[in-house]
Amino acid sequence: KRVGVLISGSGTNLQALIDYTRDPHNHSAAELVLVISNMPDVHGLQRAEKVGIMTKVINHKDYKSREEFDDALHHSLMAAGVEIVCLAGFMRILTGGFVRKWSGHMLNVHPSLLPSFKGVDAVEQALGAQVRISGCTVHFVAEEVDAGAILVQESVPVYPNDTPETLHERIKHVEHSAFPRALELVASEKAILGENRQIIWRT
Ligand code: GRF
Repeated sequence: KRVGVLISGSGTNLQALIDYTRDPHNHSAAELVLVISNMPDVHGLQRAEKVGIMTKVINHKDYKSREEFDDALHHSLMAAGVEIVCLAGFMRILTGGFVRKWSGHMLNVHPSLLPSFKGVDAVEQALGAQVRISGCTVHFVAEEVDAGAILVQESVPVYPNDTPETLHERIKHVEHSAFPRALELVASEKAILGENRQIIWRT
């Protein structure tokens, strides 16, 4: 399956997807063909360029509305023949229209064990709630933010002296194994999103 990755920043999750899909031992059903960033000059773009994956900057500031920005994204993804979209630290909320077009074919990684701690400050929320376990979630993207059927979760301990930075670092480490695993499930059609928005497992 041809995969497009949307990023906004450093792209460590993108790197994990690159490393997994390009390792011949994994016989991956996924091929990364396009990386789009809404932010110019971010490190994630260099990661893609280094291994010869096509990159594109689509700066949200160049568009009058979310709809027009999302239309530009959709157009570029279709032009590259993308079949699955991965949101890897993509910091823009997508319109309902865009999300519906990619329903069952778009994955997101979030730094908490959903449904706990939705939103941008998930790591801070987990520390504030003084939970002793947190982790990451890879899920199909639904219209409601940080909702959608869950594909993979991995947990990490939360230590009393953790800062947002130390906890986020520990969570990102497990994201880097969870995201490729989730992408592989979808690309190989071992997990399919059913009509009732629940996952059909074919393992
Ligand atoms: C990750 O923690 C992800 O869960 C969140 O944004 C971060 C992206 O990091 N949505 P990176 O750009 O992949 O390094």
